[in-house]
Amino acid sequence: MSTLEHRPPLIGIFDSGVGGLSVVKALQGRCPNAPLLYVADCGHAPYGERDIAHVIDRSLRITNFLLAQGAALIVVACNTATAAAIEAMRHQHPDLPLVGVEPGVKPAAQRSLSKRVGVMATTSTLQSPRFQSLVQRFANDCFVLPVACAGLAAAIEQGDANHSTVSHLLDQYCGALKDAAVDTVVLGCTHYPFVADAIAERLGPGVTLLDTADAVAQQAARLYEGLGQPDPSPESSRLLKSRRMTMMSTGEVEVLERIARERLGWDQQALRIDI
Ligand code: DGL
Repeated sequence: MSTLEHRPPLIGIFDSGVGGLSVVKALQGRCPNAPLLYVADCGHAPYGERDIAHVIDRSLRITNFLLAQGAALIVVACNTATAAAIEAMRHQHPDLPLVGVEPGVKPAAQRSLSKRVGVMATTSTLQSPRFQSLVQRFANDCFVLPVACAGLAAAIEQGDANHSTVSHLLDQYCGALKDAAVDTVVLGCTHYPFVADAIAERLGPGVTLLDTADAVAQQAARLYEGLGQPDPSPESSRLLKSRRMTMMSTGEVEVLERIARERLGWDQQALRIDI
């Protein structure tokens, strides 16, 4: 029996780009022994400003790719893809354990003292029926200001919070939140935790920022514990031979490598894939 047959099951994770790395970081804390395969769909991003059919198509393709690599659990580390595509993914793979990411409207409404909450997310997430339903179910007693942060995820891929486009967009979106005097702001896109300090600085000390990366990682860890030990496919065996975490991109690998290195301290190469 080869040593690989003893390897723990693989978790597949994807996002439109680098944002899902904020979820990967939380997953590493909650599932320290799990091999992780991350796909950044940089070649087909941003999702937040594309039509829903595109996001569903990409999500289903990436899911099939991750399954072919041996993934036993998939984390949709993207609010936009969760809102648009998780139902289609569940429909196509009814037995697959799946975890999605949704804006933390419920914890924000519970935490807000002024009952004034802001939600920063993509246009697509904010327009989705899933988001409307979250607000109706969990924030009925709150004033909720949705701020569609067009261009912000793409700008974060280009540079840090000091990058002029990022800084200009943050001034604009945080200005709207300040004007509305919210005391709690949901980071409803997995890219935004990478500029959380800059957002906090603009909003001031009276405003709490919330993101759901750790809650998602906890849910994934619960499902992960319930998994058996499927035999790894030859392809996943090859990929997992030397690394606990593998990064792939459908676009420029340099962006993924740079952000993993600069923001998370992971110095590793990413593989370019075409799916
Ligand atoms: N990171 C993605 C999310 O959580 C969106 C970025 C994009 O627009 O592609 O919604």
